[in-house]
Amino acid sequence: MSQLPEIVSRIKNAINSATTLEDLRSQKSTIVGDKSELAKISQGLGQLDAAERARLGKAVGQARGEIAELFEKRYSELERARDLRVIDEERVDVTLPTHRHPSGGLHPLTLINNEIAEIFTAIGYQTVEGPELEAAWLNFDALNIPADHPARTMQDTFFIDPLESNLVLRTHTSPSQIRTMLSHQPPIYVICPGRTYRSDELDATHTPVFSQVEGLVIDRGISMSHLKGTLDFFAKEMFGAEVVTRLRPSFFPFTEPSAEVDIFFNGRWIEWGGCGMVNPEVLKTCGVDSNEFSGFAFGMGLERTLMVRHNISDIREIVEGDLRFSKKFGMGGR
Ligand code: DAH
Repeated sequence: MSQLPEIVSRIKNAINSATTLEDLRSQKSTIVGDKSELAKISQGLGQLDAAERARLGKAVGQARGEIAELFEKRYSELERARDLRVIDEERVDVTLPTHRHPSGGLHPLTLINNEIAEIFTAIGYQTVEGPELEAAWLNFDALNIPADHPARTMQDTFFIDPLESNLVLRTHTSPSQIRTMLSHQPPIYVICPGRTYRSDELDATHTPVFSQVEGLVIDRGISMSHLKGTLDFFAKEMFGAEVVTRLRPSFFPFTEPSAEVDIFFNGRWIEWGGCGMVNPEVLKTCGVDSNEFSGFAFGMGLERTLMVRHNISDIREIVEGDLRFSKKFGMGGR
């Protein structure tokens, strides 16, 4: 009985001086458990006489209650301290700079392609695409380009091995006109965008792989003024309302008459593409009755269109895929 206050104060001390949860937890069994000093005293009570047992039992029970309470109190204090420390250590500073991955984006050529498709969809045209590997007959003969035409020579055209396959990498998107007329009855209102190939060296103004967009309209009563009006509309959508177009007489085997379309943009005349009234020979080849139907066609280069509109002096900028170039067109990256 006389040792009890000393034991109690030693245990309380141990509880109060525990500085971490682990520390306190490791002492739990000797402080409050069944094997604790006070538990052992309780267990030995049976050997005492009744009066002594009652006195000591009460005192020990009270002491154990106090200690259990103190233990709980200290335990939750240490728990709260641990939580605060964890919150502090794991704090996220949302203002710190991070490694940013540039997000992807569409190439300027794809963007202008989409833009053109939207411009013509709005006035009722459909977009059709043809293969890049094309039958020589569709790329040349059906377009009234004879076998001895200079465009067919080895210098301009990529022929596919073996030569008897009569396949070429299309040199323009015009074979898509033929494919459309062969597979659809007029009225026809289409644009045909796509990649085209010519055996040119890559330099500031040439690239062996480039892109064109072809336009084709076949309907009753189509005249040159419809062509002019359509090109005016297209040019204004592409270059702004102030742009002016003009047609300059020219020659293409697949159109008669033929013209170059120029635009007056940024203070000068610039050649934009070719156009004309679809040659009745071509209509005949495609089974279109030229007494009933007439039509116009046009074709322009997309790289050239981008270069004019965005003041790009070197076509290689467009084909090389340097992000510093593409970013100006809204392609991802910071
Ligand atoms: N196919 C021509 C070229 O690649 C461009 C062209 C000119 C297309 C006149 C046309 C057209 O449809 O009518 O150079």
